Amino acid sequence: MSECAVICGLGTCLPERVITNEDLTARLDTSDEWIRRRTGIQRRRMVDPGTSTGDLAVAAGQAAQVSAGRSADFVVLATTTPDRPCPATAPEVAHRLGLTEVPALDIAAVCSGFVYALGLAEALVRAGACDQPLVIGAEVYTSIIDPQDRNTAVIFGDGAGAVLLRRGDSGEPGAIHAVELGSSGAGSDLITVAGGGSRIPGREQQVPREQRYFRMQGREVYRQAVARMTSSARSVLDRVQWSPSSVRAFVGHQANQRILDAVADRLGVSKCYRFGNIAEVGNTAAASIPLAMADASASNRIHPGAPTLLTAFGGGLTWGSAAVTWPDVVPVSLPPKSPTALCGSMTDRETDAVATAPQPH
Ligand code: UT7
Repeated sequence: MSECAVICGLGTCLPERVITNEDLTARLDTSDEWIRRRTGIQRRRMVDPGTSTGDLAVAAGQAAQVSAGRSADFVVLATTTPDRPCPATAPEVAHRLGLTEVPALDIAAVCSGFVYALGLAEALVRAGACDQPLVIGAEVYTSIIDPQDRNTAVIFGDGAGAVLLRRGDSGEPGAIHAVELGSSGAGSDLITVAGGGSRIPGREQQVPREQRYFRMQGREVYRQAVARMTSSARSVLDRVQWSPSSVRAFVGHQANQRILDAVADRLGVSKCYRFGNIAEVGNTAAASIPLAMADASASNRIHPGAPTLLTAFGGGLTWGSAAVTWPDVVPVSLPPKSPTALCGSMTDRETDAVATAPQPH
Protein backbone atom coordinates (compact mmCIF):
# COMPACT_ATOMS: atom_id res chain seq x y z
CA MET A 1 0.00 0.00 0.00
CA SER A 2 1.32 3.46 -0.86
CA GLU A 3 0.35 7.03 0.02
CA CYS A 4 -1.90 8.74 -2.53
CA ALA A 5 -4.81 11.16 -2.89
CA VAL A 6 -8.26 9.78 -2.09
CA ILE A 7 -11.67 11.14 -3.18
CA CYS A 8 -13.60 11.76 0.05
CA GLY A 9 -16.45 14.07 -1.03
CA LEU A 10 -18.65 14.51 -4.10
CA GLY A 11 -20.92 17.50 -4.78
CA THR A 12 -23.04 18.76 -7.65
CA CYS A 13 -25.09 21.74 -8.71
CA LEU A 14 -27.59 21.78 -11.56
CA PRO A 15 -29.66 24.81 -12.49
CA GLU A 16 -33.38 24.16 -12.19
CA ARG A 17 -34.39 25.21 -15.70
CA VAL A 18 -34.76 22.23 -18.08
CA ILE A 19 -34.49 22.67 -21.86
CA THR A 20 -36.00 19.71 -23.70
CA ASN A 21 -35.33 18.66 -27.29
CA GLU A 22 -38.85 19.87 -28.11
CA ASP A 23 -37.97 23.33 -26.75
CA LEU A 24 -35.08 23.46 -29.25
CA THR A 25 -37.10 22.26 -32.23
CA ALA A 26 -39.27 25.35 -31.80
CA ARG A 27 -36.36 27.59 -32.87
CA LEU A 28 -33.88 25.34 -34.72
CA ASP A 29 -34.02 23.15 -37.83
CA THR A 30 -33.69 19.92 -35.84
CA SER A 31 -35.83 17.18 -34.33
CA ASP A 32 -36.14 15.24 -31.09
CA GLU A 33 -35.54 12.07 -33.10
CA TRP A 34 -32.25 13.39 -34.63
CA ILE A 35 -30.89 14.60 -31.30
CA ARG A 36 -31.71 11.37 -29.45
CA ARG A 37 -30.40 9.09 -32.21
CA ARG A 38 -27.17 11.02 -32.91
CA THR A 39 -26.29 12.09 -29.36
CA GLY A 40 -28.47 10.28 -26.79
CA ILE A 41 -29.50 13.63 -25.30
CA GLN A 42 -33.13 14.24 -24.26
CA ARG A 43 -32.79 17.38 -22.14
CA ARG A 44 -30.20 19.69 -20.63
CA ARG A 45 -30.11 22.38 -17.92
CA MET A 46 -29.69 26.12 -18.43
CA VAL A 47 -28.98 28.84 -15.88
CA ASP A 48 -31.28 31.78 -15.34
CA PRO A 49 -29.95 35.12 -16.60
CA GLY A 50 -27.40 36.52 -14.13
CA THR A 51 -26.20 33.12 -12.87
CA SER A 52 -22.52 32.50 -13.60
CA THR A 53 -20.07 29.61 -13.62
CA GLY A 54 -18.77 30.86 -10.25
CA ASP A 55 -22.28 30.61 -8.76
CA LEU A 56 -22.50 26.94 -9.81
CA ALA A 57 -18.91 26.26 -8.71
CA VAL A 58 -19.50 27.67 -5.22
CA ALA A 59 -22.56 25.44 -4.78
CA ALA A 60 -20.85 22.28 -6.09
CA GLY A 61 -17.71 23.03 -4.06
CA GLN A 62 -19.73 23.58 -0.92
CA ALA A 63 -21.67 20.38 -1.59
CA ALA A 64 -18.43 18.37 -1.98
CA GLN A 65 -17.12 19.74 1.32
CA VAL A 66 -20.37 18.85 3.07
CA SER A 67 -20.22 15.37 1.52
CA ALA A 68 -16.66 14.99 2.87
CA GLY A 69 -17.34 16.73 6.20
CA ARG A 70 -14.14 18.74 5.81
CA SER A 71 -12.82 21.92 4.18
CA ALA A 72 -10.37 22.39 1.32
CA ASP A 73 -6.88 23.89 1.48
CA PHE A 74 -6.49 24.39 -2.31
CA VAL A 75 -8.99 25.09 -5.11
CA VAL A 76 -8.61 23.98 -8.73
CA LEU A 77 -11.48 25.05 -10.98
CA ALA A 78 -11.76 23.54 -14.45
CA THR A 79 -13.88 25.65 -16.78
CA THR A 80 -14.25 26.78 -20.38
CA THR A 81 -16.63 29.53 -19.33
CA PRO A 82 -14.96 31.59 -16.58
CA ASP A 83 -16.91 34.46 -15.05
CA ARG A 84 -14.64 36.93 -16.94
CA PRO A 85 -11.38 36.89 -18.95
CA CYS A 86 -9.43 38.32 -15.99
CA PRO A 87 -8.95 37.47 -13.16
CA ALA A 88 -9.46 33.72 -12.79
CA THR A 89 -12.76 32.56 -11.27
CA ALA A 90 -11.22 30.17 -8.68
CA PRO A 91 -9.96 32.78 -6.17
CA GLU A 92 -13.43 34.33 -5.90
CA VAL A 93 -14.98 30.86 -5.56
CA ALA A 94 -12.51 30.06 -2.74
CA HIS A 95 -13.35 33.37 -1.04
CA ARG A 96 -17.09 32.73 -1.30
CA LEU A 97 -16.54 29.27 0.19
CA GLY A 98 -14.90 30.88 3.20
CA LEU A 99 -11.51 29.34 2.32
CA THR A 100 -9.37 32.26 3.37
CA GLU A 101 -6.18 32.79 1.37
CA VAL A 102 -5.90 29.25 -0.01
CA PRO A 103 -4.17 28.89 -3.42
CA ALA A 104 -6.76 28.90 -6.21
CA LEU A 105 -6.43 28.63 -9.97
CA ASP A 106 -8.45 27.96 -13.12
CA ILE A 107 -7.67 25.23 -15.63
CA ALA A 108 -8.72 25.69 -19.25
CA ALA A 109 -8.68 22.21 -20.78
CA VAL A 110 -12.27 22.40 -22.12
CA CYS A 111 -14.05 19.01 -21.82
CA SER A 112 -10.94 17.31 -20.38
CA GLY A 113 -10.76 19.97 -17.68
CA PHE A 114 -12.00 17.82 -14.80
CA VAL A 115 -9.47 15.03 -15.45
CA TYR A 116 -6.68 17.62 -15.89
CA ALA A 117 -7.66 19.28 -12.60
CA LEU A 118 -7.87 15.90 -10.86
CA GLY A 119 -4.40 14.98 -12.16
CA LEU A 120 -2.91 18.26 -10.96
CA ALA A 121 -4.58 18.03 -7.55
CA GLU A 122 -3.55 14.45 -6.87
CA ALA A 123 0.05 15.30 -7.86
CA LEU A 124 -0.01 18.27 -5.46
CA VAL A 125 -1.11 15.95 -2.65
CA ARG A 126 1.62 13.42 -3.46
CA ALA A 127 4.19 16.25 -3.62
CA GLY A 128 3.11 17.52 -0.20
CA ALA A 129 1.99 20.90 -1.59
CA CYS A 130 -1.49 20.54 -0.04
CA ASP A 131 -3.59 18.01 1.84
CA GLN A 132 -7.20 18.56 0.81
CA PRO A 133 -7.63 20.09 -2.65
CA LEU A 134 -11.10 20.84 -3.98
CA VAL A 135 -11.44 19.93 -7.67
CA ILE A 136 -14.38 21.65 -9.36
CA GLY A 137 -15.64 21.38 -12.93
CA ALA A 138 -18.18 24.12 -13.65
CA GLU A 139 -19.68 25.49 -16.85
CA VAL A 140 -22.24 27.91 -18.13
CA TYR A 141 -21.82 26.68 -21.70
CA THR A 142 -25.00 28.41 -22.78
CA SER A 143 -23.02 31.67 -22.43
CA ILE A 144 -20.75 30.75 -25.38
CA ILE A 145 -23.10 28.66 -27.53
CA ASP A 146 -24.64 30.28 -30.61
CA PRO A 147 -28.38 29.73 -30.11
CA GLN A 148 -28.74 29.59 -33.92
CA ASP A 149 -26.10 26.86 -34.43
CA ARG A 150 -27.83 23.47 -34.48
CA ASN A 151 -24.42 21.70 -34.51
CA THR A 152 -23.73 22.76 -30.94
CA ALA A 153 -26.89 24.23 -29.39
CA VAL A 154 -28.50 20.79 -29.06
CA ILE A 155 -25.51 19.27 -27.27
CA PHE A 156 -24.28 21.48 -24.46
CA GLY A 157 -25.77 22.32 -21.07
CA ASP A 158 -24.88 24.06 -17.80
CA GLY A 159 -23.87 22.49 -14.47
CA ALA A 160 -21.10 21.87 -11.97
CA GLY A 161 -19.58 18.97 -10.08
CA ALA A 162 -16.77 18.75 -7.56
CA VAL A 163 -14.72 16.28 -5.56
CA LEU A 164 -12.73 16.89 -2.41
CA LEU A 165 -9.49 14.95 -2.07
CA ARG A 166 -7.53 14.05 1.07
CA ARG A 167 -4.27 12.29 1.77
CA GLY A 168 -4.78 8.54 2.16
CA ASP A 169 -3.50 5.21 0.90
CA SER A 170 -3.97 3.15 -2.21
CA GLY A 171 -6.00 0.46 -0.44
CA GLU A 172 -8.85 2.85 0.41
CA PRO A 173 -12.03 3.39 -1.64
CA GLY A 174 -11.64 6.56 -3.69
CA ALA A 175 -7.85 6.14 -4.12
CA ILE A 176 -6.46 7.78 -7.25
CA HIS A 177 -4.04 5.18 -8.63
CA ALA A 178 -2.95 6.92 -11.84
CA VAL A 179 -3.83 9.82 -14.14
CA GLU A 180 -2.70 10.10 -17.77
CA LEU A 181 -2.96 13.41 -19.65
CA GLY A 182 -2.19 14.45 -23.22
CA SER A 183 -2.72 17.15 -25.84
CA SER A 184 -2.33 17.90 -29.53
CA GLY A 185 -2.37 21.60 -30.40
CA ALA A 186 -2.29 20.60 -34.07
CA GLY A 187 -6.06 20.18 -33.68
CA SER A 188 -6.67 23.47 -31.88
CA ASP A 189 -8.96 24.76 -34.68
CA LEU A 190 -11.44 21.89 -34.29
CA ILE A 191 -13.08 23.33 -31.15
CA THR A 192 -12.81 27.09 -30.66
CA VAL A 193 -14.16 30.39 -29.51
CA ALA A 194 -11.84 32.26 -31.89
CA GLY A 195 -12.44 35.87 -30.87
CA GLY A 196 -11.97 37.83 -27.68
CA GLY A 197 -8.37 36.82 -26.96
CA SER A 198 -5.03 38.37 -27.89
CA ARG A 199 -5.06 37.02 -31.47
CA ILE A 200 -8.46 38.45 -32.36
CA PRO A 201 -9.05 41.08 -29.68
CA GLY A 202 -11.68 43.78 -29.61
CA ARG A 203 -15.03 44.55 -28.15
CA GLU A 204 -17.77 42.01 -28.63
CA GLN A 205 -19.58 44.01 -31.31
CA GLN A 206 -16.38 44.25 -33.40
CA VAL A 207 -15.81 40.49 -33.49
CA PRO A 208 -17.82 38.75 -36.25
CA ARG A 209 -20.49 36.29 -35.11
CA GLU A 210 -18.49 33.31 -36.37
CA GLN A 211 -15.60 34.19 -34.03
CA ARG A 212 -17.71 35.25 -31.07
CA TYR A 213 -19.31 31.88 -30.36
CA PHE A 214 -18.19 28.33 -29.67
CA ARG A 215 -17.64 26.37 -32.91
CA MET A 216 -16.93 22.67 -33.32
CA GLN A 217 -16.07 20.53 -36.35
CA GLY A 218 -18.23 17.72 -35.03
CA ARG A 219 -17.36 14.85 -37.36
CA GLU A 220 -13.56 15.15 -36.98
CA VAL A 221 -13.89 15.79 -33.23
CA TYR A 222 -15.99 12.62 -32.98
CA ARG A 223 -13.31 10.58 -34.73
CA GLN A 224 -10.52 11.96 -32.56
CA ALA A 225 -12.56 11.62 -29.36
CA VAL A 226 -13.09 7.88 -29.87
CA ALA A 227 -9.44 7.25 -30.77
CA ARG A 228 -7.89 9.42 -28.03
CA MET A 229 -10.18 8.34 -25.19
CA THR A 230 -9.62 4.68 -26.09
CA SER A 231 -5.81 4.95 -26.22
CA SER A 232 -5.60 7.15 -23.13
CA ALA A 233 -7.82 4.74 -21.18
CA ARG A 234 -5.71 1.76 -22.30
CA SER A 235 -2.55 3.50 -21.23
CA VAL A 236 -3.80 4.40 -17.73
CA LEU A 237 -5.12 0.85 -17.24
CA ASP A 238 -1.74 -0.55 -18.34
CA ARG A 239 -0.01 1.65 -15.78
CA VAL A 240 -2.03 0.20 -12.91
CA GLN A 241 -2.12 -3.28 -14.47
CA TRP A 242 -5.90 -3.50 -14.56
CA SER A 243 -7.48 -5.28 -17.52
CA PRO A 244 -10.46 -3.48 -19.13
CA SER A 245 -12.62 -6.46 -18.16
CA SER A 246 -11.82 -5.84 -14.48
CA VAL A 247 -13.29 -2.30 -14.64
CA ARG A 248 -16.52 -2.17 -12.62
CA ALA A 249 -17.39 1.48 -13.31
CA PHE A 250 -16.70 3.27 -16.60
CA VAL A 251 -17.54 6.98 -16.45
CA GLY A 252 -16.55 8.84 -19.61
CA HIS A 253 -16.94 12.51 -20.41
CA GLN A 254 -20.56 12.80 -21.54
CA ALA A 255 -19.80 14.05 -25.07
CA ASN A 256 -22.12 11.87 -27.09
CA GLN A 257 -23.66 8.49 -26.23
CA ARG A 258 -22.34 7.01 -29.47
CA ILE A 259 -18.78 8.11 -28.60
CA LEU A 260 -19.07 6.61 -25.11
CA ASP A 261 -20.43 3.31 -26.51
CA ALA A 262 -17.66 3.16 -29.13
CA VAL A 263 -14.93 3.73 -26.51
CA ALA A 264 -16.36 1.20 -24.05
CA ASP A 265 -16.90 -1.36 -26.87
CA ARG A 266 -13.30 -0.97 -28.08
CA LEU A 267 -11.96 -1.33 -24.56
CA GLY A 268 -14.22 -4.30 -23.82
CA VAL A 269 -15.98 -2.83 -20.78
CA SER A 270 -19.20 -4.72 -20.21
CA LYS A 271 -22.47 -2.77 -20.73
CA CYS A 272 -23.56 -3.27 -17.12
CA TYR A 273 -20.52 -1.35 -15.85
CA ARG A 274 -21.06 1.76 -18.01
CA PHE A 275 -22.52 4.80 -16.25
CA GLY A 276 -23.66 8.16 -17.56
CA ASN A 277 -26.40 10.78 -17.54
CA ILE A 278 -26.06 12.42 -20.95
CA ALA A 279 -29.77 11.87 -21.66
CA GLU A 280 -30.67 14.11 -18.72
CA VAL A 281 -28.00 16.84 -18.73
CA GLY A 282 -26.33 16.76 -22.16
CA ASN A 283 -22.65 17.63 -22.50
CA THR A 284 -21.61 19.81 -19.56
CA ALA A 285 -17.90 19.86 -20.56
CA ALA A 286 -15.64 20.11 -17.48
CA ALA A 287 -18.57 19.34 -15.16
CA SER A 288 -19.68 16.16 -16.86
CA ILE A 289 -17.60 13.48 -15.08
CA PRO A 290 -18.42 14.47 -11.48
CA LEU A 291 -22.09 14.97 -12.46
CA ALA A 292 -22.14 11.48 -14.02
CA MET A 293 -20.38 10.02 -10.95
CA ALA A 294 -23.02 11.48 -8.63
CA ASP A 295 -25.76 10.09 -10.84
CA ALA A 296 -24.05 6.66 -10.86
CA SER A 297 -23.75 6.74 -7.07
CA ALA A 298 -27.48 7.24 -6.76
CA SER A 299 -28.06 4.04 -8.75
CA ASN A 300 -26.58 1.98 -5.87
CA ARG A 301 -25.06 -0.36 -8.46
CA ILE A 302 -21.40 0.38 -7.61
CA HIS A 303 -19.59 -0.71 -4.45
CA PRO A 304 -16.98 1.50 -2.79
CA GLY A 305 -13.56 0.25 -3.82
CA ALA A 306 -14.68 -0.95 -7.30
CA PRO A 307 -12.05 -0.42 -10.05
CA THR A 308 -13.18 2.71 -11.90
CA LEU A 309 -12.08 4.25 -15.19
CA LEU A 310 -12.63 7.95 -15.90
CA THR A 311 -11.80 9.24 -19.38
CA ALA A 312 -12.28 12.53 -21.21
CA PHE A 313 -11.54 14.36 -24.45
CA GLY A 314 -12.00 17.99 -25.44
CA GLY A 315 -10.82 21.15 -27.14
CA GLY A 316 -7.13 21.89 -27.31
CA LEU A 317 -7.13 19.10 -28.29
CA THR A 318 -6.79 17.60 -24.83
CA TRP A 319 -7.51 14.22 -23.31
CA GLY A 320 -6.97 12.35 -20.08
CA SER A 321 -7.91 9.26 -18.10
CA ALA A 322 -7.80 8.27 -14.46
CA ALA A 323 -7.74 4.87 -12.75
CA VAL A 324 -9.39 5.24 -9.35
CA THR A 325 -11.39 3.07 -6.99
CA TRP A 326 -15.02 4.04 -6.43
CA PRO A 327 -15.20 6.43 -3.46
CA ASP A 328 -17.12 5.71 -0.28
CA VAL A 329 -19.13 8.94 -0.42
CA VAL A 330 -22.72 10.14 -0.32
CA PRO A 331 -23.03 12.86 -2.98
CA VAL A 332 -24.63 16.16 -1.96
CA SER A 333 -26.43 18.47 -4.37
CA LEU A 334 -27.05 22.19 -3.84
CA PRO A 335 -28.79 24.83 -5.96
CA PRO A 336 -26.75 27.67 -7.55
CA LYS A 337 -25.56 30.30 -5.07
CA SER A 338 -26.61 33.87 -5.72
CA PRO A 339 -23.72 36.08 -6.94
CA THR A 340 -23.30 37.71 -3.54
CA ALA A 341 -23.70 34.57 -1.40
CA LEU A 342 -20.85 33.81 0.95
CA CYS A 343 -20.72 30.37 2.54
CA GLY A 344 -20.14 30.23 6.26
CA SER A 345 -18.50 27.70 8.55
CA MET A 346 -18.84 23.95 8.02
CA THR A 347 -21.69 23.93 10.54
CA ASP A 348 -23.61 26.45 8.44
CA ARG A 349 -22.86 24.41 5.34
CA GLU A 350 -24.18 21.23 6.94
CA THR A 351 -27.36 22.98 8.00
CA ASP A 352 -27.75 24.39 4.51
CA ALA A 353 -27.23 20.97 2.90
CA VAL A 354 -29.70 19.22 5.17
CA ALA A 355 -32.26 21.92 4.40
CA THR A 356 -31.83 21.45 0.64
CA ALA A 357 -33.33 18.38 -0.95
CA PRO A 358 -31.12 16.73 -3.63
CA GLN A 359 -32.09 17.87 -7.10
CA PRO A 360 -33.64 15.28 -9.40
CA HIS A 361 -31.35 14.01 -12.18
O1 UT7 B 1 -17.22 17.46 -25.65
C1 UT7 B 1 -16.01 17.14 -26.24
C2 UT7 B 1 -15.95 17.34 -27.68
N1 UT7 B 1 -17.18 17.13 -28.38
C3 UT7 B 1 -17.48 15.95 -28.89
O2 UT7 B 1 -16.83 14.96 -28.65
C4 UT7 B 1 -18.62 15.90 -29.87
C5 UT7 B 1 -18.18 15.16 -31.10
N2 UT7 B 1 -19.11 15.19 -32.22
C6 UT7 B 1 -20.38 14.73 -32.17
O3 UT7 B 1 -20.87 14.35 -31.12
C7 UT7 B 1 -21.14 14.63 -33.45
O4 UT7 B 1 -20.26 14.84 -34.53
C8 UT7 B 1 -22.32 15.63 -33.57
C9 UT7 B 1 -23.43 15.24 -32.59
C10 UT7 B 1 -21.85 17.04 -33.29
C11 UT7 B 1 -22.92 15.55 -34.96
O5 UT7 B 1 -23.32 14.22 -35.26
P1 UT7 B 1 -22.84 13.50 -36.60
O6 UT7 B 1 -23.48 12.21 -36.63
O7 UT7 B 1 -21.33 13.55 -36.63
O8 UT7 B 1 -23.45 14.44 -37.70
P2 UT7 B 1 -22.70 15.23 -38.85
O9 UT7 B 1 -22.00 16.42 -38.32
O10 UT7 B 1 -21.93 14.25 -39.67
O11 UT7 B 1 -23.93 15.72 -39.67
C12 UT7 B 1 -24.82 14.80 -40.32
C13 UT7 B 1 -26.00 15.59 -40.88
C14 UT7 B 1 -25.54 16.86 -41.61
O12 UT7 B 1 -26.42 17.03 -42.71
P3 UT7 B 1 -25.95 16.58 -44.19
O13 UT7 B 1 -24.68 17.35 -44.46
O14 UT7 B 1 -25.73 15.11 -44.11
O15 UT7 B 1 -27.12 17.00 -45.03
C15 UT7 B 1 -25.77 17.96 -40.63
O16 UT7 B 1 -26.02 19.19 -41.22
O17 UT7 B 1 -26.80 16.04 -39.79
C16 UT7 B 1 -27.00 17.46 -39.90
N3 UT7 B 1 -27.14 18.01 -38.55
C17 UT7 B 1 -28.32 18.06 -37.91
N4 UT7 B 1 -29.55 17.71 -38.31
C18 UT7 B 1 -30.54 17.89 -37.43
C19 UT7 B 1 -26.17 18.49 -37.74
N5 UT7 B 1 -26.71 18.88 -36.57
C20 UT7 B 1 -28.05 18.64 -36.67
C21 UT7 B 1 -29.13 18.81 -35.80
N6 UT7 B 1 -30.35 18.43 -36.20
N7 UT7 B 1 -28.98 19.34 -34.55
